[in-house]
Amino acid sequence: TASRPLAAKAREKEPDPDDGRLRVAVFFGTQTGTAEGFAKALAEEAKARYDKAVFKVVDLDDYAAEDDDYAEKLKKEIIALFFLATYGDGEPTDNAARFYKWFSEGNERGEWLSNLRFAVFGLGNRQYEHFNKIGKVVDQLLSEQGGKRIVPVGLGDDDQCIEDDFNAWKELLWSELDKLLRVEDDSSVPPTPYTAAIPGYRTVFVKPEDAADINKSSSLSNGQAVYDIQHPCRAHVAVRRELHTPASDRSCIHLEFDIAGTSLTYETGDHVGVYAENNIETVKEAEKLLGYSADTVFAIYADEEDGTPLFGGSLPPPFPSPCTVRVALARYADLLNSPKKSVLIALAAHASDPKEAERLRHLASPAGKKEYSQWIISSQRSLLEVISEFPSVKPPLGVFFAAIAPRLQPRYYSISSSPRMAPTRIHVTCALVCGPTPTGRIHKGVCSTWMKNSTPLEESEECSWAPIFVRQSNFKLPADPTVPIIMIGPGTGLAPFRGFLQERLALKEIGVELGRAILFFGCRNRKMDFIYEDELNNFADAGALSELIVAFSRDGPTKEYVQHKMAAKAPELWSIISQGGYIYVCGDAKGMARDVHRVLHTIVQGQGSLDNSKTESYMKNLQMEGRYLRDVW
Ligand code: 2AM
Repeated sequence: TASRPLAAKAREKEPDPDDGRLRVAVFFGTQTGTAEGFAKALAEEAKARYDKAVFKVVDLDDYAAEDDDYAEKLKKEIIALFFLATYGDGEPTDNAARFYKWFSEGNERGEWLSNLRFAVFGLGNRQYEHFNKIGKVVDQLLSEQGGKRIVPVGLGDDDQCIEDDFNAWKELLWSELDKLLRVEDDSSVPPTPYTAAIPGYRTVFVKPEDAADINKSSSLSNGQAVYDIQHPCRAHVAVRRELHTPASDRSCIHLEFDIAGTSLTYETGDHVGVYAENNIETVKEAEKLLGYSADTVFAIYADEEDGTPLFGGSLPPPFPSPCTVRVALARYADLLNSPKKSVLIALAAHASDPKEAERLRHLASPAGKKEYSQWIISSQRSLLEVISEFPSVKPPLGVFFAAIAPRLQPRYYSISSSPRMAPTRIHVTCALVCGPTPTGRIHKGVCSTWMKNSTPLEESEECSWAPIFVRQSNFKLPADPTVPIIMIGPGTGLAPFRGFLQERLALKEIGVELGRAILFFGCRNRKMDFIYEDELNNFADAGALSELIVAFSRDGPTKEYVQHKMAAKAPELWSIISQGGYIYVCGDAKGMARDVHRVLHTIVQGQGSLDNSKTESYMKNLQMEGRYLRDVW
């Protein structure tokens, strides 16, 4: 198992809440696991540093069952650390949404947190508008409500190396926490900046007949009534269709998951989370590198010696335990992303060649910063590529799945159907991610590749399936169907609008009166990637869509984008907006949504004859009223 200072091991008994030690709450709001990973890494390291305190890692959703409990419990905290990711359009993560809403609406509470010392580390990406909004807002509010800031808010930037940002922030935090938490004579524990503590894991090999047969179980819901990220629903692929014409050199898949008889439901505008499988070639390569045969059956437990069953005994759901190496690698291990520095350290601990261990540690150290950024990040070197360069590295399975390969995350898609049209199907519209990396590897996106290669029920009884779940969104049609709407969705940004239009068509068919609906769609070329062209024309013919406006970016001598077409329609758009209409934008956040926002700003300013700051507040107001909604990624 992993190396950890002996002094720390000796001290590390399950904390007794009444042993007089100070409790430090380490909260996380996580979407893909990075914030949670940082929270756990920090707590793990803290154990080795501080005798006087117990660091408790807490999922913000689990912290309080009711909003009122947040106040009751927070009031009692003395030191609280927050790891908060910002995601999508400046939104909190799902597990922090309830806390964030409650906390940010509480500006009448006064300075009720005057006993609290706090520190916030935000996780975001500078390429996006609203960089680290959630971290910044919570930091500000904690201070306004009386809390004392231990260190300035950390602004982790995933566009660069967020681990470096975390480590730098952590060093600042340690030096402040040392003043608060270190007993005078406790100088025995040296700071351990580049040797992140690796918890121990026990691998147990199991007889094949005792393996959980995930191919037979009809549901992964563990008996829960509600499906969610940890309890997804097994859904078969009913239909798979290519949406681009053969003339296109790219691919976009229309896929339908069958949810008949599952009790899984959705609403138009929701997202579906999909747990895909790694490509079989990738899985076989991983089996070879690790030196295990595909049908080895194993289970993982947190190291008992540590006394802290990190995951209540085994890995968190939906990881079935025990399971085969083949299934574990295919369904649960992220093999293609670049390894984080903490992963390089874990790999080093299992390299039998000291030179390889040294090189791995160097890459993870401050001295190796430039090399890490070039050799790993810029060259998009995958975890498997890195392992293959260090042949003496042979981590045990437990360490590999718990500390080296991050958990393969579900991918989210805007659902492209409406339950009024397709009550037993969830439709997805997915562009294939595929392209060469600087090392010459062809990177294939995990989920889009899985979808492209999937076998639909239409073709075979032995069809593909995936664990899926629905995430609600606030990207919804106006409650009053006579309110006019403007939809902007180039490329696969069209997905939720196909759902909207199905919904409007279904309403129309039962005699409901509809307001005006304009759709701006954009693609490269009319003959190649004008997806759902016939359906869109049908919506228009049937009166569910009032006007379809398409921008082709590579069809003529000049690039035409959706926002160019919008500018040409400024008076009409303004008349819809100023009469209480809704604006919806879906698609790429970094380029398209930003540019569309600028054009909307210009339209409002010009048509409404407003000055710049009045226009700003007009746009803000639209957003506050929920009349300007964005589903962007
Ligand atoms: P392009 O690839 O030819 O530049 C769907 O991806 C469509 O969105 C494509 O036609 C693409 O054009 C276009 N697109 C790319 N960047 C955009 C931007 N910043 N704003 C609007 N459309 C954009």
